[in-house]
Amino acid sequence: MGFWDGKKVLVTGGAGFIGSHVVDVLRRRGVKDEQITIPRSATHDLRLMENCLEVTRGQDIVIHLAARVGGIGYNMENPATLFYDNLMMSAQLMEAARINGVQKFVGVGTACSYPKYTPVPFKEEDLWNGYPEETNAPYGLAKRMMIVQAQAYRAQYGFNAVTVIPFNAFGPRDNFDPRSSHVIPALIRKAFLEDVLVVWGDGSPSRSFVYVEDIAEGIVLAAERLETGEPVNIGTEEETTIRRAVELIVKHTGFKGEVVYDTTKPNGQPRRSASIARARELIGYEPKWAFEEGLIKTIEYYREHREEIEAAIAAGATRR
Ligand SMILES: NC(=O)c1ccc[n+]([C@@H]2O[C@H](COP(=O)([O-])OP(=O)(O)OC[C@H]3O[C@@H](n4cnc5c(N)ncnc54)[C@H](OP(=O)(O)O)[C@@H]3O)[C@@H](O)[C@H]2O)c1
Repeated sequence: MGFWDGKKVLVTGGAGFIGSHVVDVLRRRGVKDEQITIPRSATHDLRLMENCLEVTRGQDIVIHLAARVGGIGYNMENPATLFYDNLMMSAQLMEAARINGVQKFVGVGTACSYPKYTPVPFKEEDLWNGYPEETNAPYGLAKRMMIVQAQAYRAQYGFNAVTVIPFNAFGPRDNFDPRSSHVIPALIRKAFLEDVLVVWGDGSPSRSFVYVEDIAEGIVLAAERLETGEPVNIGTEEETTIRRAVELIVKHTGFKGEVVYDTTKPNGQPRRSASIARARELIGYEPKWAFEEGLIKTIEYYREHREEIEAAIAAGATRR
């Protein structure tokens, strides 16, 4: 029997950016559509316990990606929403999964949970050594609590909850809405639409930008193989500065205008790169995409879908 044979899988946030790629990976593993349930926020708001109980009933595996997510600007405007929604969703969904006898719960955390000045590369044991960077602390700390909850539920109930910590995702189907997008889709869109490419901050911060297909594969590997409450980074060892990302975006979009670094805007966390030693050892994770290759795919995606993306943004029909 394969791991997924006959299993019912709930993928919260499965219609979102990373979640839709997780569903693609599951399909490639042979999971049939009738085994997969994707609850949507319009009908099942997961901040409410009754909805968490309803969606987890009869499920074998829960992969929890539903969250409020955004870039630095969105985080600064919505700290309370980011804290409350994310805390309530994960706390109640895991409790509901336990009550309903779910076999395994995979909680998707975030690199924003790491302390502001974590030594690079970020190792999971450094997660608890300080307060996160201010702009993403309410989001990152709400998500840190999911790790505490998973460990507590393992200890007291023997509930099989695991957590992963993805680093900065990018790729096709990312959110390009300037009101909530992350840095890579925001800059790609500006390079196509604007004469001056304004970059927030001074370009010095670095990130472990992970192509979304690698993240989705890591999440599915965790569902299949991870059997400990210790969180596991899903990242890449390639550390890319914002300045380098901008140079590559200019190169691959053919942007001919001026690039301006707006230092009145925050940089966000100064440096971020991932140790993936634990992921290699425990789940056999190995990222396959170099940043530049993934970036080319992402730029192609925006180019091909530009009209529909822009129509959705203009109509206010993007997800957040
Ligand atoms: N993007 C990144 O760089 C990144 C990095 C690290 C970790 N993560 C984590 O990965 C996960 C997915 O992120 P993403 O970038 O793919 O986000 P996304 O595209 O915004 O997807 C999140 C999904 O969550 C669902 N959701 C939001 N509020 C909900 C509610 N109240 N009830 C039910 N569902 C709700 C939405 O479902 P509907 O479409 O039905 O509204 C949405 O599709 C999140 O847990 C995030 O913290 C993301």
